[in-house]
Amino acid sequence: MTGGGAAVSVNTVLAELFAAAAHGCRDRSPLTQRLLTDAAADLERGGVTARIMAGSERDREGTVPGLRFAGAVHRLVLEGRAPGLAKHYPTAGGRPDLPALWEDAVPALTEHADLLRQRVQATVVQTNEPGRSAPLYGGLVVAAQEAAKVAGRHVPFCVRLLEVGASGGLNLRPHHVGYQLPDRVLGDPDSPLVLDPGWTGRPPADLDHRLRVVGRAGCDLHPVDVSTEDGRLHLSSFVWADQVDRWNRLRAALDLAATDPVRVERSPGPEWLAKQLARAERDVLTVVWHSVVWQYASPADRAMGRAVLADAAAKATPTTPLALLVFEPRRSDDPGEVYRFELLLKLWPAGLSLNLGHGAGHGTPFTWDVTPWE
Ligand SMILES: C[S@@+](CC[C@H](N)C(=O)[O-])C[C@H]1O[C@@H](n2cnc3c(N)ncnc32)[C@H](O)[C@@H]1O
Repeated sequence: MTGGGAAVSVNTVLAELFAAAAHGCRDRSPLTQRLLTDAAADLERGGVTARIMAGSERDREGTVPGLRFAGAVHRLVLEGRAPGLAKHYPTAGGRPDLPALWEDAVPALTEHADLLRQRVQATVVQTNEPGRSAPLYGGLVVAAQEAAKVAGRHVPFCVRLLEVGASGGLNLRPHHVGYQLPDRVLGDPDSPLVLDPGWTGRPPADLDHRLRVVGRAGCDLHPVDVSTEDGRLHLSSFVWADQVDRWNRLRAALDLAATDPVRVERSPGPEWLAKQLARAERDVLTVVWHSVVWQYASPADRAMGRAVLADAAAKATPTTPLALLVFEPRRSDDPGEVYRFELLLKLWPAGLSLNLGHGAGHGTPFTWDVTPWE
């Protein structure tokens, strides 16, 4: 009796996390919202969802168990293992019929409960958003030109891009992406991935200069190898299945990655960065970049990351300059929004520190609005 009561209470806590995750999808993914709302009710009554989530009941809120569940179910659909459910999933050619969703989900969840449980336990939520290449591209163009000004050069620096928290590395090819502006295409117009960056204003730089990237490298605590079907499915499963534009963008980014592979190393950011920054290349601007990573990094990693960067910044010279470029959420002063995603640039030895603008979390649209970064 006592054991049964305890099980009910942990499932109630988990059901609340599912309901919170469902709320987080409102207005953006009615399909995921409905799946998680129905799954929360199913958890409360000890249905198949409780079987799938067995062993994950006490997971921290930050691991977002509901999104791990939704991702595992989406993956099942993408693998063709749940044809009765696929008819609701636009990513599998279906059309959501929300009132009938749960009824069609239960047979698939029941048949694959063991597999789903293993996957929910083994998975961390992983999104790698290629739309963030747009603010990255603009920020790199600005950084390369500002560093050149300080060095008294007319030609912008070539860039070595070092990404911390790169996930599948989909933002390690900003120069191979096309950026469709109303009057022109920046970057590579022939790329399989052409983004509408939705820019208000423009980067404060001469956009006629091409961005030249001479080196790229990335690390992640949980890298995703997008050269494998497993890695591609993993990233794909975390795109909400009714967000067709995002889905198409991810497919195009995966196609681009297949033509231009870059390995993402498994490592905590600071250790990896220390190794990468140990050598500076003459006449190359080294840019340390991270997007939507800071909130996940431990306090120890944050402190060490800052120290590693400060050490490298102290050694930067006009011919071996260093930049930090980040796209991260910051608490907003605007009462209408809690967080806003800002693009921040620091440059050494120039001593430049700029807030270049702000945009949507996925990188587009974006407003260029340069102010000092305090
Ligand atoms: C929300 S994803 C963002 C991925 C990518 N930067 C993007 O913008 O698409 C956050 C990533 O940061 C990684 N991460 C978190 N803490 C890290 C750390 N201390 N060192 C390296 N990677 C880390 C996670 O594994 C995850 O892949």
